[in-house]
Amino acid sequence: MIFRILFLFLAFMATNSIAVADQQTYIVHMDKTKLKVSIHSHDRSKPWSESIIYFISEASMQEEEEKEEILAPQLLYTYETTMFGFAAQLSKKHLKYLNQVDGFLSAIPDELSTLHTTYTPHFLGLDNGSALWSASNLASDMIIGVIDSGIWPEHISFQDSGLSPVPSHWKGVCEQGTNFSASDCNKKLIGARTYFKGYEKVFGKLNETVSYLSPRDSEGHGTHTASTAAGNVVKNANLYGQAGGTASGMRYTSRIAVYKVCWPKGCANSDILAAVDQAVSDGVDVLSLSLGSDPKPFYDDLIAVASFGATKKGVFVACSAGNKGPSPSTVSNGAPWIMTVAASSTDRSFPTEVMLGNGKFFKGTSLYQGNLTNQLPLVFGKSAGTKKEAQHCSEGSLDPKLVHGKIVVCERGKNGRTEMGEVVKVAGGAGMIVLNAENQGEEIYADLHILPATSLGASEGKTIETYIQSDKKPTASISFMGTKFGDPAPVMGAFSSRGPSIVGPDVIKPDVTAPGVNILAAWPPKTSPSFIMNDKREVLFNILWGTSMSCPHVSGIAALLKSLHKDWSPAAIKSALMTTAYTLNNKGAPISDMASDNKAFATPFAFGSGHVNPVSAFDPGLVYDIGTEDYLNYLCSLNYTSSQIALLSRGKFACSKKAVLQAGDLNYPSFAVLFDRSALNANVTYTRVVTNVGKPQSAYAVKVKQPDGVSVTVEPRVLKFEKVGQKLSYKVTFLAVGKARVAGTSSFGSLIWVSGRYQVRSPIALTWK
Ligand SMILES: *[C@@H]1O[C@H](CO)[C@@H](O)[C@H](O)[C@H]1NC(C)=O
Ligand SMILES: *[C@@H]1O[C@H](CO)[C@@H](O)[C@H](O)[C@H]1NC(C)=O
Ligand SMILES: *[C@@H]1O[C@H](CO)[C@@H](O)[C@H](O)[C@H]1NC(C)=O
Ligand SMILES: *[C@@H]1O[C@H](CO)[C@@H](O)[C@H](O)[C@H]1NC(C)=O
Ligand SMILES: *[C@@H]1O[C@H](CO)[C@@H](O)[C@H](O)[C@H]1NC(C)=O
Ligand SMILES: *[C@@H]1O[C@H](CO)[C@@H](O)[C@H](O)[C@H]1NC(C)=O
Repeated sequence: MIFRILFLFLAFMATNSIAVADQQTYIVHMDKTKLKVSIHSHDRSKPWSESIIYFISEASMQEEEEKEEILAPQLLYTYETTMFGFAAQLSKKHLKYLNQVDGFLSAIPDELSTLHTTYTPHFLGLDNGSALWSASNLASDMIIGVIDSGIWPEHISFQDSGLSPVPSHWKGVCEQGTNFSASDCNKKLIGARTYFKGYEKVFGKLNETVSYLSPRDSEGHGTHTASTAAGNVVKNANLYGQAGGTASGMRYTSRIAVYKVCWPKGCANSDILAAVDQAVSDGVDVLSLSLGSDPKPFYDDLIAVASFGATKKGVFVACSAGNKGPSPSTVSNGAPWIMTVAASSTDRSFPTEVMLGNGKFFKGTSLYQGNLTNQLPLVFGKSAGTKKEAQHCSEGSLDPKLVHGKIVVCERGKNGRTEMGEVVKVAGGAGMIVLNAENQGEEIYADLHILPATSLGASEGKTIETYIQSDKKPTASISFMGTKFGDPAPVMGAFSSRGPSIVGPDVIKPDVTAPGVNILAAWPPKTSPSFIMNDKREVLFNILWGTSMSCPHVSGIAALLKSLHKDWSPAAIKSALMTTAYTLNNKGAPISDMASDNKAFATPFAFGSGHVNPVSAFDPGLVYDIGTEDYLNYLCSLNYTSSQIALLSRGKFACSKKAVLQAGDLNYPSFAVLFDRSALNANVTYTRVVTNVGKPQSAYAVKVKQPDGVSVTVEPRVLKFEKVGQKLSYKVTFLAVGKARVAGTSSFGSLIWVSGRYQVRSPIALTWK
């Protein structure tokens, strides 16, 4: 009845009718505690979200006296597990009525997120027979939910040989669809669902000749990430002989549940939310999201909101940091409850050598596998065509007469690197050199070219140009040296998104780095391995790079830790991975950064706490735990309003009026400190609580590496534990000393609790505002 009254009241209130506004998808957050009263009094047989849609539909029709054509609001999804709300197609007018419904919190327009690749287990210290991969440790059942572009279920990586029956707590299903039936699931791939309602509202009906309307993957990305997290063991996996060896996921006995949300043009947030919500209620243990959008406040960031709900239910969430580096403050998915993963190299590479006619030679990289080319005529793309685009070897820009039988130098531009190769090949070229532009520096990518081709860094460009100009008959040859090991590694990928986080600057983001450069993993045979439509090669494994590839490494490792430590919270698992991460490379030098052509060391704003080290994370000594309430207090300290916080707390939390909350007090396993640059002798003190998960009786002594310009004091300097599970707190004070600083600059240090073989390390990043 209350509902009816509200409805009449609104109809009466209606003023001049507004023209029918364009509809749009909104993600609507509701406060469940305030909702019950009004909504269900209307019609108890209807689900609450339908009642609301019914109400706003009726209300806006009533208003429309001129009988203009009105689009009815349309409900796409109801969310109840990780957030409380729904997604619907609404007009501006519908929104107006929605605003009047009790419990309404906010309506956020739907947006697109974008998708941001095995030798890596060995690089991570996971070898057959090692403690973490021993049979008894792998026996338990972990389920990893992969929110991505689907999966190729027949792939050998997803065979279920040797696996026990599906865990009894699993409630998910295997949805039928185009070229996908329930029997495509097995004891490895235990769930598969598809979400596209939100996507179709933006882009119209999906083209079924391009995309399967089912969990089947036509992009390749989802198959790749799923196999990295939990693919079964495949002997002799390789890509045309490159990167050969045994391929396997980080936790190859984990089960995979696939939630397909990404389509050719991206992934709608309303679909992602529906998938995360369902995955958590299906019973996943870990969620892996290799996608994201630009950084936003946490209440506006739907992946952050859904991840918060998932974390609260004990699900570990790992997300990619993004590929927008090396510019600062590009990191996405930076909520403190999310494990934000950066990307770095392994010591494996695919080197090539380019030899000029004058005897000069350069090192490059390529996945092309073939013999040394002849010494062939060499030409710049920009002098081999009439159009300006010839510089980037775009389609139709090259003159076949000028490129026939030659090696063509193409500068990286908007078009794909392998696509440039196709253009050169179509024009009759015999080979290609992909040259970085000046601002792309020396970071080069190994690609699966369709002709003999290699990438070279920007610095080679000038030498080649001078040579071509000075020589009447310039020539070059390319030799392909196969797969090599032993490079200094890890090195941070220049592309990997960087901190500091603009949304939550009191927390260092990203959290850790993991392998994300030249990663070999499963690939659907029907999907072009070079992303060129006309490339009909079929491969079982493909090599990709990106934080998309590093994220599932961490998801798989988290499943490994969770199965060994069933009582650890997601925050405890995160802490273990962070405090045991390493910052030195395989040569004993600090990890360097591709963004500086390896000349400078990487900082915590590139790799967070360092490179994940699963073997040490298994036994970290101490953990920094964080509960739901701690996260909410953190949001209070960011001065979020009560309705903003209600999106995450779902209405059952009020910020304390008494306590002075400092964002830096969140019990995070790292320290981000902000100081006003002019405030000499400014100081802040933060409290941390550590839980003993190592030896019952142990004493930890603190070791501090002071950041430049700051004095760090810790109180007490020794923590004495009597038993496992015991919690002890300490205070750390940062005092600015010395001269005034330049705004935006940072200095770095660390705080380590040491006891015997345990080294519980937290990085310190100090930034002057
Ligand atoms: C480890 O060895 C066992 C027994 O030989 C085998 O079944 C398993 O596939 C191996 N795992 C890897 C990753 O090679
Ligand atoms: C459907 O899947 C099968 C594998 O089960 C594959 O051989 C076939 O090519 C697929 N059809 C299409 C249209 O992709
Ligand atoms: C679907 O995609 C195919 C292949 O790209 C194309 O030929 C066809 O025109 C598309 N159909 C529609 C309805 O866009
Ligand atoms: C490389 O050279 C060898 C012998 O000269 C030849 O048998 C082989 O087919 C060549 N490979 C390719 C990919 O051209
Ligand atoms: C929140 O508000 C308090 C009091 O106005 C202020 O001191 C503090 O700097 C604000 N914090 C943030 C993160 O804006
Ligand atoms: C820290 O700052 C407070 C004021 O905020 C001041 O009272 C105190 O003396 C400072 N401590 C040190 C060691 O400078």
